[in-house]
Formats: sequence, C-alpha cells, structure tokens
Amino acid sequence: MAETFLNYIAGRWVPARSGRTFFNTNPATGELLGEYPSSGPEDVAAAVEAARSAYRGWRNTPAPKRAEIVYRAGELIRARKEELARAMTREMGKILIETRGDVQEGIDMAYLAAGEGRRMYGVTTPSEMPDKWAMSVRAPIGVAGVITPWNFPFAIPSWKLMPALVAGNTAVFKPAGDTPEMAWHFTKIFEEAGLPKGVLNLVFGSGSQVGDPIVRHPDVQVISFTGSTEVGLAIAGKGGALGKRISLEMGGKNAILVMDDADLALATDAIAWSAFGTTGQRCTACSRVLVHEKVHDALAERLAARAKTLRLGDGLDPATEVGPLVNRGQVEKVAHYVEIGRGEGALVAGGAVASEGALAKGHFFRPTVFADVAPQARVAVEEIFGPVLALVKVESLEQAIEINNASSYGLSSSIFTADVNRAFRAMRDLDTGIVYVNHGTTGAETHLPFGGTRGTGNGHREAGHTMLDPFTEWKSIYVDFSGHLQRAQIDNN
Ligand code: UN1
Repeated sequence: MAETFLNYIAGRWVPARSGRTFFNTNPATGELLGEYPSSGPEDVAAAVEAARSAYRGWRNTPAPKRAEIVYRAGELIRARKEELARAMTREMGKILIETRGDVQEGIDMAYLAAGEGRRMYGVTTPSEMPDKWAMSVRAPIGVAGVITPWNFPFAIPSWKLMPALVAGNTAVFKPAGDTPEMAWHFTKIFEEAGLPKGVLNLVFGSGSQVGDPIVRHPDVQVISFTGSTEVGLAIAGKGGALGKRISLEMGGKNAILVMDDADLALATDAIAWSAFGTTGQRCTACSRVLVHEKVHDALAERLAARAKTLRLGDGLDPATEVGPLVNRGQVEKVAHYVEIGRGEGALVAGGAVASEGALAKGHFFRPTVFADVAPQARVAVEEIFGPVLALVKVESLEQAIEINNASSYGLSSSIFTADVNRAFRAMRDLDTGIVYVNHGTTGAETHLPFGGTRGTGNGHREAGHTMLDPFTEWKSIYVDFSGHLQRAQIDNN
C-alpha cells in the first residue's frame, strides 16, 4: 500500500473534494512511492479563498517577523537535508550529490530571503515642495499562484515562495505531478516553522485541473511559473488578458563556446557536467557546444570518450553518475530527437535507451553526443531536455557569439578561453541572462539574479537582489506637513 498524501488548505491536510488520486513512482525502479489528491477547480477555489482570508493578517505582520518564519524553515531544511535529498532522488531520479545541492539551494534561499525581511529597502527622496515628505515603499500584491517543475523540486519553489511570503503575499502552490513529495515536505516544513493557517496552500493535480484554474481565478493577482515554453506562453496569454502580473522562467538551449586556446581537459569536464548532470534536465543545461574548428575533432573525441564511461543507474547508488529521465514521456521525446539528430550530424556516443540488467526497470537513456552539426540543425536549436549534446564548428569568436545570440532562448552561456580580451568581449556580447567564463552553464548561486532573455522569460529575474520584484508593487507616499494647500508643478513655478 502506497502512503497517502493530502492537500494543505487553510492549515488543514485534506483530500481532493472529488476523492480522486494519482500515484507517484520512482523513475529508476518503477517502485510506487505515494498516492496524492488529483484535485480540481473546487479545491483551487478553497485554497484561494484560504489565501485571500489570510492575506490581511499576514501583510500586517511585520516583515522581520514574517522573515523569521522563513529563517526557521531554513533551519529545518538544513537539519533534514540528507533525508530530503534521498527522497528527491527516489522521486525524480537525479543523483544524490545533485539532490543534496538542490536542497542546499533551498537552505541558501531561506537565509537570503529571511535577510530581506530586515531590508526590503524603499527610497526616500526630497519633495519639490517645502514641508513635504516623499518616499516609496514595497507593498505585497496579494495572492500568488506558484506553479513549479519537477527538475528542481525544492530549489525552484524556494526561489518563488520564500520571497513571496517575506514580502507579505499569501500563496497557492501547485507542484509538478512528477514531484509531489518534495512539495509536500516543503509545505510541511513551513507548517512546522509556524506559518499561520492559510498563508501557504498546497494543491496537487494536473495543469488543466489545478494550474489553469489558479491562473484564471480572479483573486490570484500574480503568477510565478517555471516550466515549458508552451505552457508558460499559454499562462501569459490567459493571465495577461486578466491583467495579472506574470513571471515566467521557460526553455533554454544553452551553449558553451570553446575557443582554440581553451584548456580542453577543463572544458571536457565542464561540458560533461553541464550536459549530462541532472541527465540534461536543467533549464541551464548545456546542449550545444560552439567549438573552434581547430579543436573540434579533439574535443569531440574527448567528449565521446567521457560520455561512454559515465555510469548509469539508481541515483541512490554512490557509484552512479547519471540517473534516469523523469518519466516515459521524456524518454520518448529524447529518442525522437536522437532519430532527428542521426540525419543532422555524426553520432559519436550514446544514441539509445539503456536497458541492460536493472536499468530495464527505469527510464534510462545513454549520454549522447553528435559532432559536426550545422548551427540551424534541429538538435542544435530546439530544447530537448535530456542528455543530448550537439557540437557545432565555428571559425571565430564573433561567429560563435552570433550563433549563440540567434537562439530563440537566452538563459545561460559560457566561454572557455585563455585570452582575457576574448573573455571580456564574450561577457559583453553574449546575450543571455547568465554568462560564465571558464565554467559550464549550470550552477547559478542564489544571491545573483536568475533568468533569461528572449524566449526564456518575460523580463523578470528570480532570487538575487531582484527576488522581491515579481512579488511586490511600489507605493509612493507623500506627507504634506505645511498645513496649507500646496500644489506640485504649480505653486513652486
Ligand atoms: C533549472 O534548471 O531550472 O544554475 C534551475 C543551476 C541551478 C538551478 C537550475 N542552480 O543549474
């Protein structure tokens, strides 16, 4: 019998009103992990109502007090780091060192966001009139709808919910169907940390039955979403038409530029980690290498050799280097792109499902490398979200930058070079939200803004000093202490 988990609405753990459920399974073994409410619009309505009723009390709680609860949650996460990491590996497959990193990102974010409770700086400025005071402060927006993916099931809810709560919003949280257990732990920890009832509400279920009603609900004022471009743009359309604030984090096709003066051993380590870590299922994953023609063949050889040695298996086994894909659908998508890639470049490693021995029970795909791919080939342009890497030959730094910037996405990019002039030119000209020098495309730190240009996002940045921006409105306040009518723009001109 699988353990049963419940929604969290108005401070109570409750089933879906319909009584319907869905199952959560381990992608490495097929083992059944738990049974969850398959909720619907009526559960969303109850959650939004709880969040709406809790809002006034929460927004009037002093920000440092709100932040102390987030800090306490950080302490609980830290104490349970190993347990959470193991549960995450079981639930979504990535290897233990990576799931520990995902939980650590939640801890880092809790401490960072908690600090904002005692900053949340506004601006005080002189008035143009005598005996008048002028300032601007951040105000919460209301009820936030937070819709999160399965690839960073602890870090991404942390980036969104922690700042939203510190800023004084209340929230309805809908996690991805592949990682409900992490969302359950996240919410349980906030309950234990002392969050008042109704401030955070958790509703499990599908995009159409839970996500969509959240986006359409008139009492949800801001939506923060990370996931596919297709779903993100649909949310922007529906939510935008209703005048809501929408913060989107969507696809990526992140490139690593390797110049002819690069340290190829270092570049190989970094590319393999960026492309095959998390089994390629990161928004920040490297999925194309724009490599100088002089070193293309040497790099292709190194990467093919590395890809072939990577050990696939259950992420709980410390010897495993690459875990499974999250579900059957992802395997089919990756296999489909690999078929396309066979006609677009030279397959030098991988290219197939891995099913020997115990791997047959899970969703495993071999780390795959295509060499000598044209810049416009589909495998070099479209987001695959799996362990598939395309090498594209370039003649110069300028050409590499041009190819990088022609992508319809713009999350992360990186350059390997020993030449400081090339490095600075790349830092200036690579048009992505994150740029690395002599480092892969993954591994963003929580205290810097996270987000991308072009089709990756819609202008917002998460975490960093920008963390409050999606979840606050600016309010300008004027206090006239002259005791008589003073008309700005009129009486002083
Ligand atoms: C994501 O893939 O959506 O920079 C998040 C990184 C991680 C976060 C990735 N810190 O790779």
